[in-house]
Amino acid sequence: MEVLKIIGGKKLSGTIEIGGAKNSAVALVPAAILSDRVAIKNVPNISDIESLEIILNYLGASFTKNGDELTIESLTMENKPITLEYSKMLRASSYFMGALLGKYKHAEMYFPGGCSIGERPIDLHLSGFEALGATVTNDGDKYIIDADKLIGADIKLKFASVGATINILLASVLAEGKTTIKNAAREPEVGNVIDLLNDMGAKISGKDSDLLVVEGVESLSGGSVKVIPDRIEAGTYIIAGVMNGDNLKINNVIPSHFSSLTDKLLEMGADIKIFDDYVVTNKVDNLKPIKIVTEVYPGFPTDLQQPITSLLTLADGTSIVKELIYENRFQNVPYLIQMGADIEVNGRELKINGPAKLLGCEVITTDLRAGAALILAALSAEGETTIKEIKHVLRGYENIINKLTKVGGEISLEDV
Ligand code: UD1
Repeated sequence: MEVLKIIGGKKLSGTIEIGGAKNSAVALVPAAILSDRVAIKNVPNISDIESLEIILNYLGASFTKNGDELTIESLTMENKPITLEYSKMLRASSYFMGALLGKYKHAEMYFPGGCSIGERPIDLHLSGFEALGATVTNDGDKYIIDADKLIGADIKLKFASVGATINILLASVLAEGKTTIKNAAREPEVGNVIDLLNDMGAKISGKDSDLLVVEGVESLSGGSVKVIPDRIEAGTYIIAGVMNGDNLKINNVIPSHFSSLTDKLLEMGADIKIFDDYVVTNKVDNLKPIKIVTEVYPGFPTDLQQPITSLLTLADGTSIVKELIYENRFQNVPYLIQMGADIEVNGRELKINGPAKLLGCEVITTDLRAGAALILAALSAEGETTIKEIKHVLRGYENIINKLTKVGGEISLEDV
């Protein structure tokens, strides 16, 4: 079994380069099958991408890698049911529903996998497909989504879901006529997918707004796109810098994508300097407590809720964290308490009484961002922390061990 060992208390100094956004890349790969040939640049080196490559392979599409550029060719592809095993590999397997439906007017797959952080239904994805004229039936646990033809429709999402917005875009770009998506998700990753689809010849307007309009086209051609910098990876390392940084530079970022985080860090009194495409952080003492409420973009991202909780254990006073997106995203908390944090859980709210003195111990990662949160806590704890189930973190953080080692973190993967 592989575990991560971290000796805490080391200053982090130097530069961390941020990779392409996981949540963009995992949508861009399925989007690529809508045309014959697509090149995606700045693809992060994470295991979620490897899972998508396995699914592409299974469908008969070919892909070639050249550094961080992935080229996907779909000429030889066949529309096969995505098996239970492949569906469960990751949440973003669900994007094959929209992409296969758009391309072949037929898709078969199971409920997607992904982190266990709440129920995560796909009702909005399915009702979007139905609005476009598809029928959704179940064969046991398998969804069969079928349409004679897809016809543009007016769709209003009851929640601005990232996944549903992207899936409806994938299904509607080749539909007949006009589709509107009201209350669409405005996350930058949605915009990145729109950039690729438009480069392939789709006609989508309204990028970055909550009203997207898709004028259906008959076919799509080849295209290319560059994955935007990962705002969640950047945010995680910025928090690491606030906890342990000594002129830690987080490079290749788009600061406007994470201003909800940096605004909160500045409110705490953190030492962060924001430049055009990088941020420099230093550890300071006596950070003020704050209140965080997770919201859809541009609000505070749920994906940074667990990482910032580790920092809040060190603030001087009581911080409040409200998680409004997922019902089960506090699985890091028992382990932070084990490390010495004083946290009360009340439904979807945390009361964090700081400052705590964190001590290394043995902890378990339950999901991707819980793992990142425990790594942050371990980096500033006294002594050694052993983190089990580290596979969750490797799904979404590119070369995290090398990136942290390079800036002075004492962190290694060990076989025990
Ligand atoms: C994406 C991100 C994830 C992030 C989340 C919110 C990917 C691969 N993952 O997940 O990291 O935490 O956005 O920023 O991009 N919902 C429904 N019905 C649906 C769809 C969603 O009720 O059909 C609910 C979910 O249960 C959740 C909320 O909407 O409470 C947000 O989900 P959504 O935005 O769809 O998240 P994902 O696309 O799964």
